[in-house]
Amino acid sequence: MTIDYAALLDIADQAAKNAYVPYSKFHVGAALVADDGTVFPGCNVENVSYGLTNCAERTAIFSAVVSGHQRFSAIAIVQHANDEPCWPCGACRQVLAEFNPDMDVIFREGSGVRVTKLHELLPHCFDATRLKVK
Ligand code: THU
Repeated sequence: MTIDYAALLDIADQAAKNAYVPYSKFHVGAALVADDGTVFPGCNVENVSYGLTNCAERTAIFSAVVSGHQRFSAIAIVQHANDEPCWPCGACRQVLAEFNPDMDVIFREGSGVRVTKLHELLPHCFDATRLKVK
């Protein structure tokens, strides 16, 4: 399936407008693509108890899982109205890797698009291969 990365970045930017960010004022948006092409937006949701803040990327993942999706091919991430890459935090990298370390991670870069693989952003991530789950 071909993905229109520019359109995906626009969806992420729209989501970023809805971010609840009274503390940081830093609006982040994400647009996560499921294997059937469905796009799930996400934004950051802050809390007065700062550590309870949920990042845009995890909002998108959790929303998609609620809707029955667990296979993802790409995620676009933006800071609203900013054209530099908005690199995901370490926690979000790990949560995304749970579902697909090979997914494309899409950013704005100047007037263009930058495409990376999640495993480039989180090499040697913790995974289940050595877990002894009975
Ligand atoms: N934030 C995200 O939404 N995603 C990230 O990957 C990094 C940080 C949010 C959390 C907080 O609301 C704001 O950006 C400033 O840290």
